[in-house]
Amino acid sequence: MAAGSAQVSPGGGTSSIAQASVPGPGLTTPGGPAATASSPSGRSECLRQRLRAVRQHSEALIAELEVEDLVLQGMADASPPKWHLGHTAWFFETFLLQPLGESLGLAYAAAEPLWGYLFNSYYDAVGERHPRPQRGLLSRPPIREVLAWRERVGAGLEDLLDRLEQLGPAEAAAALALLELGLQHEQQHQELLLMDLLDGFSRNPLEPAYSTAAAGPEALFEARWREQVASRRASAATGRDGLEGWIEHPGGLVSIGHPGVMAAGETADAVLAPFHFDNEGPRHRVWLEPFAIADTLVTNAAYAAFIAAGGYRRPELWMSEGWAVVQQRGWQVPRYWRGDDAFTLAGRLPREAEAPVRHLSWFEADAYARWAGARLPSEAEWETAAGAGLLRQTHGLLWQWTGSPYRPYPGFEAATGAVGEYNGKFMSSQLVLRGSGFLTPAGHAGLERITYRNFFPPASRWMASGLRLARDRG
Ligand SMILES: [Fe+2]
Repeated sequence: MAAGSAQVSPGGGTSSIAQASVPGPGLTTPGGPAATASSPSGRSECLRQRLRAVRQHSEALIAELEVEDLVLQGMADASPPKWHLGHTAWFFETFLLQPLGESLGLAYAAAEPLWGYLFNSYYDAVGERHPRPQRGLLSRPPIREVLAWRERVGAGLEDLLDRLEQLGPAEAAAALALLELGLQHEQQHQELLLMDLLDGFSRNPLEPAYSTAAAGPEALFEARWREQVASRRASAATGRDGLEGWIEHPGGLVSIGHPGVMAAGETADAVLAPFHFDNEGPRHRVWLEPFAIADTLVTNAAYAAFIAAGGYRRPELWMSEGWAVVQQRGWQVPRYWRGDDAFTLAGRLPREAEAPVRHLSWFEADAYARWAGARLPSEAEWETAAGAGLLRQTHGLLWQWTGSPYRPYPGFEAATGAVGEYNGKFMSSQLVLRGSGFLTPAGHAGLERITYRNFFPPASRWMASGLRLARDRG
């Protein structure tokens, strides 16, 4: 995608990537390689297995949908499930199979050129594209043709892996890096597919459920937050933790950002090191004043108190731009609240007081924090506290708004070529979210990767977003 975004990048809103090699939070699939990466054949086999797992996971996500659901586009920022599946195949075709097909002698035959027009998301260097708000009009090509394309692309990529030795070391490393990026990109779209579907289904009076299965996303969300609440209670009962949950930090000079590089000259070994997106680096120093940060996310009960206190009717709590959005759109509650219930991917469910409040815009998160006498953490504060192991609920529940604008780190340079459009060109008018969410696929954001930078415009609230509080220390 770039991940986030409403101009959403890679399609969606987020951008960035995560550690492909570490099974992480999220849904139950793709992820960790079974083969070792210690030899050339092992590296190739490792990527082959992940390629199959990621592709199969995308197709599993739509397995229970009706055919009519596959072209559902609830709003201009969202995309239909079928488009996500086609676009991720297009990415591999455009950036790997077409450039390398001839030199490697691949048997792969590209899709007809108009498909490139249909499934290009935002890559200006590649060519024109179908208007994003009109992706829901694409009843054709039918899903069977898109799935057949994905099968051909998958076979082409495996053929490419078999022939990598025909390339020089630098070219082979570049191809592997692009393959890794394509896998991470597809995982980002897996999350986008589900959040877009939630938006689309939320507009149907029948309140359709995507999945009520025990392994479905909503069951996973509930199991995770209940486990964390129980763990926190247990810690509090033994006196090792306070229910208030404010963690104090002295501030000072800290370093944030991913230490690795994804650049020219990178070796094949480096490519298989834990993945990160270009926007996560370079690692750099930041000065922090003393601060405090909440160890957990804000709950539904706490947010309900903000509403009861007139939170949506008090302009002094809001940024001017946010207050205008509240007025224009008639916001009175979070995106999917319905009375005492909430609309979810499992349909309408009772809203649990202790669950983290979700699907908030940055404007709402910011206003809540102001009402609570606090503020949103900066991304440097978040990363420093998370890196020190001070925070609960960092990964696998909700992306967490920070107060930081999405801008390049010092020394950031976008990659050359069309893939340089992946993240860098979205670094304006968006805010950073950290962590990962319950819709983030397993193996994507990892349980330990703390440098991932997701981003969305401040009025966006269809993604799985929440907030934690921070405050200055005198
Ligand atoms: Fe994309």
